[in-house]
Amino acid sequence: MRIFSGIQPTGAKTIGNYAGGFRQYAETQERGDAFFCIVDLHSITVEYDPEELRSSTLDLYAMLIATGLDPDRSTIFVQSHVSAHAEAAWLLSAVTSYGQLGRMTQFKEKGERHEFVSAGLFTYPVLMAGDILLYQTDLVPIGDDQRQHLELARDAAERFNSRFGETFGLPEGQYPEIGARVMDLQDPKSKMSTSAPIAAQGVVRMLDEPDAIRKKFKSAVTDSGRDVRHDRDGKPGVSNLIEIMSVATGETFAKIESRYDGQGYGRFKEDVGEAVIELLQPIQQRYRELRADERELHRLLELGADKARAESAPTLAAMYDRMGFARL
Ligand code: TYM
Repeated sequence: MRIFSGIQPTGAKTIGNYAGGFRQYAETQERGDAFFCIVDLHSITVEYDPEELRSSTLDLYAMLIATGLDPDRSTIFVQSHVSAHAEAAWLLSAVTSYGQLGRMTQFKEKGERHEFVSAGLFTYPVLMAGDILLYQTDLVPIGDDQRQHLELARDAAERFNSRFGETFGLPEGQYPEIGARVMDLQDPKSKMSTSAPIAAQGVVRMLDEPDAIRKKFKSAVTDSGRDVRHDRDGKPGVSNLIEIMSVATGETFAKIESRYDGQGYGRFKEDVGEAVIELLQPIQQRYRELRADERELHRLLELGADKARAESAPTLAAMYDRMGFARL
């Protein structure tokens, strides 16, 4: 089975990225031939700092390994190192509907937040479709916020197949059962967002210090009740905390609920913070060790790029060929 997923280098990664991304990458790599892509070309679609992009690419590589990816087993690479991605995006733009792109919630939300809305922010899902389709992917481990983008990739693949001949299989999404949409601790009706301001108290980052994590969980918004009970609609704050605890410890909701039965929220919130600290501490330590050796990271990135180039080339060639381009 072929597995593919991507993650943007910019923005300090959050426990939402852990729940929907990192954790699933490490798990899915055991189940087939896996590709994980640091999607730097996606990062330029909103305001960004070029120096930060450069260093955050290595930061993210180290984080991917620290959270369990094995570079001997999986292909981990940077999108801009493999030119097929930019090419595939242009070719697929011929079979992507303008109307469908305009309906993407992420485009609408981010578009509202930025003064300058780039064309890249609009066409971004086409680039993502290319990422996935170039590798003949069967399974895409992602969080819930990427569901609509994956649908668009499938639609583009189907349209390509029917216009130019069978070229792509249809990829399926894999969403975690728990933690597919981790919410902001201060605003549990909104997704915990990597691109929130770095000081945002509702966003827990992979590299936050233990004290910062404690503080964020202590001040998490709950409700006026006392029941630690999972009910997404009625108790969004508490439910989010239960889910985060379940992601951190592997415990069921029922077990967590019964432990805090009749105790109110204070202790519960503190314990969720401690569980997250316990989860992140070994990851942070491993991350620091890996990040310190830039030469080794560069060496691994070159190996990843070579494998990804070789693997994507035949599909790109087939696309050009079926679309009628004269080849040399
Ligand atoms: P990105 O970089 O925003 O996020 C990486 C992964 O983290 C998940 N995620 C979350 N999961 C649960 N709760 C949250 N609050 C949360 N926030 C983020 C995302 O769902 C994602 O799985 N467009 C993609 C990157 C991409 C990609 C691809 C993914 C580019 N090409 C091809 C899969 C296949 C993105 O910006 O993810």
